Amino acid sequence: MDITINSLKVFTNGNKKNKSIIFVHGFPYTHTMWNKQIDALKDNYYCVSYDIRGLGESYIGDGQYTMEAFVWDLYSIVDELKLEKPALCGLSMGGYIALRAITKEEERFGSLILCDTRSEADNNEGKLKRSNAINKINVEGIEAFVDEFVPRCFHPKIKERNNETYQNILNECKTQNPIGVKGALIAMLSRLDTTESLKNISIPTLVLVGKKDSLTPPKAMRGLANKIKDSEFFIVPKAGHMSPLENPNFVNKKIIKFLSNL
Ligand code: MLT
Repeated sequence: MDITINSLKVFTNGNKKNKSIIFVHGFPYTHTMWNKQIDALKDNYYCVSYDIRGLGESYIGDGQYTMEAFVWDLYSIVDELKLEKPALCGLSMGGYIALRAITKEEERFGSLILCDTRSEADNNEGKLKRSNAINKINVEGIEAFVDEFVPRCFHPKIKERNNETYQNILNECKTQNPIGVKGALIAMLSRLDTTESLKNISIPTLVLVGKKDSLTPPKAMRGLANKIKDSEFFIVPKAGHMSPLENPNFVNKKIIKFLSNL
């Protein structure tokens, strides 16, 4: 079922009486990147996904977003749907949102799943890359930006292994509104660093990273997991930065086992 909450397009699957899990997608993707996880979980969990403000079918507005606003959006969905301590699952930008949401109000959530993300804020080099990305969108257009950015998110061999999944997501990204994409870049560029608060996370946490993730590499993700007291860490084989999409069987098994042990 799809509904609108706080100008955001929200998708629910499964029985509301079951335990809930809320999925937060990466950049510049949409809720569809979680389809394979939702298919595997919806019989036993109430699965909620949504399009982050500015992306997919959610409200674009003026593109003036902050990470804090993304977190308020997440809280508004949890409140409106009356989710009782849902598991919170985020990939990359979704992980930035999840970490900030947990830092501020951990008591809202029952567990945390972090895929291919980081707690550090952008350094100067990262900020320059964001500025260049915005410039590229302004000068060459969204398609040129997507053609450069998205392939870097995937395992180098993805095109040979699963052409359809890759092509679908690449095409979907090219339809994103440039105002929304640039707004998300600014929100990421200006986000806070959540590293110091990792030691305070007390809910069970699953940390997953693609073996060939070059954006948030396994070594860095292991370091993140080590800072969280109650965490499990796994490297996803045959995957780059988009591990849930690239190796859904492995990722789904880990998520199902993690959730069933809670
Ligand atoms: C993502 O997958 O969400 C992006 O790689 C995040 C980023 O650009 O920092």
